[in-house]
Amino acid sequence: MIIDILTLFPESFSYLNSSILKRAQENNKIQINLIDIRQFSLDKHKKCDDYPFGGGAGMLMTAQPIFDAVKSVKRENSHIILPSPSGYVLNSKRAKELSSFEHLIFICGHYEGIDQRIIDLFKPEEISIGDYVLTGGELPTMVIIDCLSRFVDGVITSESLDEESFSSGGLEYPQYTRPQVFEGLEVPQVLLSGNHQEIAKWRKAEALKRTQTVRPDLLDN
Ligand code: ADE
Repeated sequence: MIIDILTLFPESFSYLNSSILKRAQENNKIQINLIDIRQFSLDKHKKCDDYPFGGGAGMLMTAQPIFDAVKSVKRENSHIILPSPSGYVLNSKRAKELSSFEHLIFICGHYEGIDQRIIDLFKPEEISIGDYVLTGGELPTMVIIDCLSRFVDGVITSESLDEESFSSGGLEYPQYTRPQVFEGLEVPQVLLSGNHQEIAKWRKAEALKRTQTVRPDLLDN
């Protein structure tokens, strides 16, 4: 999978070069390219923002630099994503579907957003990462890429995907590693028993308890 990220702030993406996503790129499971939108600005000062028509707070990203940046990478099989608080909220199911696209293009808006005509022309999939507003699309882009990359074959083990929160509709059970006692708190005995059936039963019950307490809405679906 190839992912092109169009942004005014390429330096903010260093997170993608660490840990699991770094390894995924080294192993050619995903290729991530950063494209600086400012380089496409035809303005003599490389300006990429302007005041909104009709007034209002803040600045908007102008259409021309984004338009030309998209055109420079777009192909027939490209799927364009615009992280935006106006989109539907991302979930695991959609992240998994996104992981099977060959080419994703992310447009990172910044300031108060982008000129509507970019949305009208390219009809990107608008995705929100939650009901709150951030200063730009850079963090949501990293969140979406992190989330979908886990579903790309070979990035993490399939066992990790099977057992985690949301894969079966609820939250995950509590987990423990060594030492057996920490600050006086012991690992639940059942996890030390070696009885896999009992362990599975305990985990299922704990996951259900946690979901009922923290996210009862997940059980309605
Ligand atoms: N840009 C600003 N806020 C956002 C959000 N909550 N989700 C996606 N993109 C955004």
